[in-house]
Amino acid sequence: MQILDGKIVSQSVKENVKGKVILFKKEGKKTPHLAAVLVGSNGASETYVASKVKNCEEVGFKSTLIRLDETISENELITAIEKLNNDEDVDGILVQLPLPKQINEETIINIIHPDKDVDGFHPVSIGKLVQGLPTFIPATPYGIMLMLEHYKIETSGKHAVVIGRSNIVGRPISILLSRNTYPGNCTVTVCHSRTKNLKEICLQADIIVAALGIPEFLKEDMVKEDAVVIDVGITRVPDATKKSGFAIKGDVDFANVSPKCSYITPVPGGVGLMTIAALLMNTFTACENKYR
Ligand code: GUN
Repeated sequence: MQILDGKIVSQSVKENVKGKVILFKKEGKKTPHLAAVLVGSNGASETYVASKVKNCEEVGFKSTLIRLDETISENELITAIEKLNNDEDVDGILVQLPLPKQINEETIINIIHPDKDVDGFHPVSIGKLVQGLPTFIPATPYGIMLMLEHYKIETSGKHAVVIGRSNIVGRPISILLSRNTYPGNCTVTVCHSRTKNLKEICLQADIIVAALGIPEFLKEDMVKEDAVVIDVGITRVPDATKKSGFAIKGDVDFANVSPKCSYITPVPGGVGLMTIAALLMNTFTACENKYR
């Protein structure tokens, strides 16, 4: 069993981006600039956004964090995003999800200009992804693809089972894995809460992507020998032994599943780190596109 190490791969991606930024500046081009919008003070969202901003700085990007009150109206948020759309210095815009209940997430995602949609959630980005055209790939699926690539994991002709059908992970990774290019060319089965015989389907999988958000859902009796297991879960569960009061749990019962796998991602230290690395790649691309 080999660990797919998010620390090593994300570091390598970040070094690559850092080098590109240095070159860019030498050529007199602008500094890539990510604007992150955080509405309210959800603990997990705070942590993710802080990490995104810190990583931007590490690779030489400029970053702006816009904090808005939990009670902000949808119109006020739209105005804030339109300002970023019109700001020539801002290359990428990220609105951290979830948003408070008075705000329609779909409306907000649609407002972000597709050229600045570094999360890849806009219908224009998703449409291009489905057609196999160059676009911003949502950060988590993109991070998974970068990881498969880094470890040269064979995907052609393999059966990939994706558990979860969210717009952020399940749906886009299923499209990417079925593309006619590497990493791709898989036969993909998408499973979800209404799937019958989930265990039997998982047992046929060469590659499993667990992205359903239920801690330790995937057990060893659902995984065949030598499967590749990608764990996208990052649920906070109460843990009195931790200083923070919680532990981060993946969707895979790592202790019992990992001995059966050829490759597996740990949580933490796996896909989560790759998500940020992929966001940096997308932000650099958004900036680079201005010179095309
Ligand atoms: N919430 C959970 N994952 C994501 C993500 O990739 N991007 C944004 N903006 N919000 C999220």
